[in-house]
Amino acid sequence: MSASHVVPTPADEQREVEQGQSIKSVYVYEAPVRLWHWINALAITVLCLTGYFIGQPLPTMPGEASANYLMGYIRFAHFTAGYVFAIGLVVRAYWAVVGNHHARELFTVPLLSRSYWVELGRMLRWYAFLARRPGRYVGHNPLARLMMFLVFLLGSVFMVFTGFALYGEGLGAGSWADTLFGWVIPLFGQSLDVHNLHRLGMWVMITFVVLHIYAAVREDIMGRQSIISTMVSGHRTFKD
Ligand code: HEM
Repeated sequence: MSASHVVPTPADEQREVEQGQSIKSVYVYEAPVRLWHWINALAITVLCLTGYFIGQPLPTMPGEASANYLMGYIRFAHFTAGYVFAIGLVVRAYWAVVGNHHARELFTVPLLSRSYWVELGRMLRWYAFLARRPGRYVGHNPLARLMMFLVFLLGSVFMVFTGFALYGEGLGAGSWADTLFGWVIPLFGQSLDVHNLHRLGMWVMITFVVLHIYAAVREDIMGRQSIISTMVSGHRTFKD
């Protein structure tokens, strides 16, 4: 069955996969979601590399000061990637509203569903090498979904709010960034507190990225469905 013609409900998809019907692939990630994923991956890489050097600047450059603009370029790259990251998040939230039901998974966690917690326990045992077989999931697996929401989504919102609050300091009092995000600074204390928290946020993001890539490669090899190619083609295929 090709889901590009008929749009199945989440329950239909899961049932067909569970019952092993002649389902070959399910169209999971629409083009805007895939495009956002890879642009976002690039933006986060640039933000982490440049952010690291903003906090731990390189030793003084040799030569005449006016011939060097290294920190300026580093900060410019950080702010450009910051805009891409923030606008991408807003567009992605819009797509959660107009896109297919998988596009909404990043923004919600079915905390009240008993089966969700059962599957979460099963996935934890699988990751801890305590279960022989993982479950088969059309969308995100239950553990991935929780991590995406708690660490990635809330973490990204935190980085955008703290980032634009710091940016507002640079633009000056009364600028658009100061007007919209300036309140974040007194909320956490003063500017240095926000710098430190923004920096700590980077390490949370880096930890997420490491685990995310580990889980994606591991599931691609050991799991029962495609993972990495799905974020390229949009189609989830099943091995058994
Ligand atoms: C994944 C997202 C992000 C990461 C990992 C990140 C990382 C960092 C790090 C590590 C620093 C240095 C903090 C310090 O020790 O002072 C920093 C500074 C800064 N970031 Fe970000 N950042 C992110 C998103 C953003 C966004 C969305 C903006 C919005 C424009 C932004 C604007 C800034 C500004 C204005 C500074 C201070 C620059 C300075 O003092 O020269 N960041 N960032």
